[in-house]
Amino acid sequence: MNSGRYLTGITTTGIPHLGNYVGAIRPAIEASRYSEEQAFYFLADYHALVKCQIPDEVQSSTRQIAAAWLASGLDVERATLYRQSDIPEIAELAWILSCVAAKGMLNRAHAYKASVQSNVDVGDDADKAISMGLYSYPILMAADILIFKGRYIPVGRDQIQHVEMARDIAQRFNYLYGDTFVLPEAVVNEDAAVLTGLDGRKMSKSYGNTVPLFSTEKALKKGINKIKTNVLEPGEPKEYEGSIVAEFWEAFATPDQIEYMKDQFRQGIAWGQSKVELFELINSHLKPFREDYLDLTESPHKIEEILQYGAERARNVSQELIAEVRDRVGIRPL
Ligand code: TRP
Repeated sequence: MNSGRYLTGITTTGIPHLGNYVGAIRPAIEASRYSEEQAFYFLADYHALVKCQIPDEVQSSTRQIAAAWLASGLDVERATLYRQSDIPEIAELAWILSCVAAKGMLNRAHAYKASVQSNVDVGDDADKAISMGLYSYPILMAADILIFKGRYIPVGRDQIQHVEMARDIAQRFNYLYGDTFVLPEAVVNEDAAVLTGLDGRKMSKSYGNTVPLFSTEKALKKGINKIKTNVLEPGEPKEYEGSIVAEFWEAFATPDQIEYMKDQFRQGIAWGQSKVELFELINSHLKPFREDYLDLTESPHKIEEILQYGAERARNVSQELIAEVRDRVGIRPL
């Protein structure tokens, strides 16, 4: 394993779903078990404000996402888990970085450009409803990463550009003020499963096509029953590759179980039956976690305590780095 810190953030909007689990939570917990340096994982609640201006939703999402990471087995000694807004050095660094980041670069950020384009498409003013938060989002993200010398940044494909911008900003700062920041790189985990959503698009909270991770068994069953299939009857052989049922199956099954299901498809398993078995498989994985999850969400003070512990440890690092940054840019005692 290469040395260097794994660091990633999770925007606290919506509730955790199966796609988050297999695509982000599970691989990040794995990585934290094997990496030499402590992994840093955090709840990006400042980023949430860009997308969600309903205070109670920001709060409850933060609680549920933290509980999901903990219940899924994150060891808070092996990884530091904290909330972005508990680290004031991040906001401070974001300002300093915004003074070295090129506006032209931010103009090219996909998320911002997409919002401008959808305004232009309907004949509205290009900047309609676009906040400075949306525009500066990559700078805040750069501060998240650079303040902790994050080196490997596990993200989805849509975030690669943001990590590249963080790298660009770090390089520019280092060039202007001397070597200060570690240059981060995006890590896109090719092995992590990407689940298709219930409507056939990628599973994403912004499409509303998700299966919740830790709701009741009933809700899990209901979600699985909604997976899109074709009209083949029981007894007719079915194509395994490309089937969404098979894709979910593979995200949880052992190699033997995968062989078994391939065979079932060849023999023409009924879609209904395949979903019953899929539910049982996923439920057997989640069941032990679900209880912990409910326990935690019902006693938020426990989560709060863990986050405060994480913040304390994280701030040991961030305070040192911000002191160096201040000195380098000339913000010094007289
Ligand atoms: N923008 C990321 C997302 O929406 C979340 C995020 C915020 C993040 N800060 C980060 C990810 C720093 C990695 C590193 O998915």
